[in-house]
Amino acid sequence: MDHFLYRDGRLHAEEVPVSDIAAEVGTPFYVYSTATLTRHFRLFDEALEGVDHLVCYAMKAASNQAILKTLAGLGAGMDVVSGGEYARARAAGVPGDRIVFSGVGKTRDEMRMALEGGIRQFNVESEPEMRALDEVARGLGVRAPITVRVNPDVDAKTHAKIATGKSENKFGIPISRAREVYAQAARLEGLEVVGIDVHIGSQITELEPYRQAYEKVADLTRVLRADGHDIRRLDLGGGLGIPYERSNSAPPLPVEYGRLVRETLGDLGCEIEIEPGRLIAGNAGILVSRVIYVKSGEGRDFLILDAAMNDLIRPAMYDAWHDIVPVIEPAPGQEPRPYDVVGPVCETGDTFAKGRMMPELAEGDLVAFRSAGAYGAVMASEYNTRPLIPEVLVHEHQFAVIRARPSFDDMINRDTIPEWL
Ligand code: LLP
Repeated sequence: MDHFLYRDGRLHAEEVPVSDIAAEVGTPFYVYSTATLTRHFRLFDEALEGVDHLVCYAMKAASNQAILKTLAGLGAGMDVVSGGEYARARAAGVPGDRIVFSGVGKTRDEMRMALEGGIRQFNVESEPEMRALDEVARGLGVRAPITVRVNPDVDAKTHAKIATGKSENKFGIPISRAREVYAQAARLEGLEVVGIDVHIGSQITELEPYRQAYEKVADLTRVLRADGHDIRRLDLGGGLGIPYERSNSAPPLPVEYGRLVRETLGDLGCEIEIEPGRLIAGNAGILVSRVIYVKSGEGRDFLILDAAMNDLIRPAMYDAWHDIVPVIEPAPGQEPRPYDVVGPVCETGDTFAKGRMMPELAEGDLVAFRSAGAYGAVMASEYNTRPLIPEVLVHEHQFAVIRARPSFDDMINRDTIPEWL
C-alpha cells in the first residue's frame, strides 16, 4: 500500500496533486511520501514486536538526508556500506551506536572514520578485512565490535545480479569455515565478536530461502556458543521484495517474515537486527516524467519521455518492471494501447518498457513510474550531461524540494582544465 492515489481524477502524493509539484519543480523528478515511508518502517518494527530488535534501514536504497531523518525519527538505525553513507547518516543525525557497517571492501580509512565517530558493529566479510580492522582498532586503542557475514549457500531465487547468498557470490565467508574464522577473530585483540551476520539477496519474493538461511544461522549460533563465543546479536540482512507489477505479484508481508524470524531464531535470546531497504523506500517514491513526443514507428508507437536510463537505471540494468501510469486518471472505458516507453539517451538500452499497454497519451502529458523510491535516485548518473533530477518529499499537504536540480553551470564547472590546454 502507498500514498500515491488518484483523487478527483488526478494522481496525488498524499494530499498534494503531482501536477502541482511538476508545475513548480519541472520534470523529471522523484517524489517520496512521508506516510508510506513511515508505514513501511512500522510494518517491520511491529513484525518484530516483543523481540529485542533494531531495524537498520539499508540506506543504499534511498539516501537523501530528509528520508534518513524521517526514518531515524521513528527509531530506525542505518545499514551503511561506505564512508560516504556513514557521513551522510551522521549528518542526518543518526547516532553511531545505531549504525551497522556492511560491505565487502571497507577501506582502512572507512574503518577509522567509523571507529572514531562511533559504530554499532562492523559486518566483516573476509579474513583480510578482519585483520585490517584489528590493526586499525588497535592503532586507535579501541576494540571494534564485529559480526562475521556468513554465506549460507542458499538460492534466494532472485535476479542473478542481486543474489548474494550463493557460494559463487563475492559476499561473506563460507558458512562451512565459520568456526575457524570466529576462532581467529577471538584471538585478535582489536576485535570484539558480538554476533553473526547474513544477507542472501534482494527482491526476494518467497520465504523459503530465508528459512533455509536462518536455520543454518540458528545452528551456527549454537555451535559458536559452544566454542565459547558470545553470540548475542544476529543481523539478518534485508531483501524482502515488493510488488513491482501490482496486477500479478504479492510477495510475503513483513508480518509473515517476522513470524519466520521468531520461528527459526526466536529461542536463542539474541538481539535481532534487520536491514530492509527496498521494502521501506520502494513504494514510497515515484518518478514523474513528461512525454516529449509520441513517435509512430513501424508497427509500434514510441512514447519519448524526458526521463531516461540515467535517472532510473533499473529497467536497463535488471530488465526490471515498473508500473507506468498517467498522472491524469484515464476516463473509464478508454481502450489501452501498446507503447514502447523510452528516454532521450543515445542508446537502445534506454528503454523503460516495450509494448506496454497504456491509455492514449499525447505530447506534454505527465506519467509516473511507480515503485521507484528504492534504487532510483541513488543509482542515477549524469550520463549525456543530464542533470541529476530533483527529489521532493511530501508530508500531508506540504512538499519540499530535498535535493535541487543542478544547473548546467553547476555540472560543467566541476571539470577542471589542466594548465597546458
Ligand atoms: N543489507 C545488505 C548487506 C545489502 O547488500 C542490501 C542490498 C540490503 C541490506 C538491502 O536489501 P533490500 O532490502 O533493499 O532488498 N540495485 C538493485 C538492488 C541491490 C541490492 C544491494 N544490496 C536493484 O535496483 O534492484
